[in-house]
Amino acid sequence: MAANLDIYPLESKIKLVCADHNNAADMLLEILHAVQAFNRYIPESAYQIIADCLNLSRAEVYGVVTFYHDFRQKPPAKKIIKLCQSEACQSMGSVQLKADIEKGLNSDVAIETIYCLGNCALAPSALVDGQIYGRLDADQLNTLIGGAA
Ligand code: FES
Repeated sequence: MAANLDIYPLESKIKLVCADHNNAADMLLEILHAVQAFNRYIPESAYQIIADCLNLSRAEVYGVVTFYHDFRQKPPAKKIIKLCQSEACQSMGSVQLKADIEKGLNSDVAIETIYCLGNCALAPSALVDGQIYGRLDADQLNTLIGGAA
């Protein structure tokens, strides 16, 4: 991969990423992850560029981007809280916790649903800045959100 992609316009960066993956259609997921890694999301303008590089249709690229929830189609919030909504966490109030927290959020923070962080014994759980937290209540979650909320 090119050492510093920042100096290139988006279209060139995407073409470099595709070329780095041999313009191989079976590398589509890796290419989408790479695009999202340097751009924070996958803009609609990227679909046709990637499709052309991989000899796919735009619809095929769009279909993959929209199938996987971790691919973002818009710029993300500055802070993303992934709050578990699976059974153990639901039984410990994560649905209500999510509703309570979302009331006071500004656009710098987003609450995303995730299903099981493997921290069920400490439900309700959330992933914040790559760290898993358990036995959360609204006050603790607001503290983790910090100054962004
Ligand atoms: S159900 Fe929430 S961490 Fe497993």
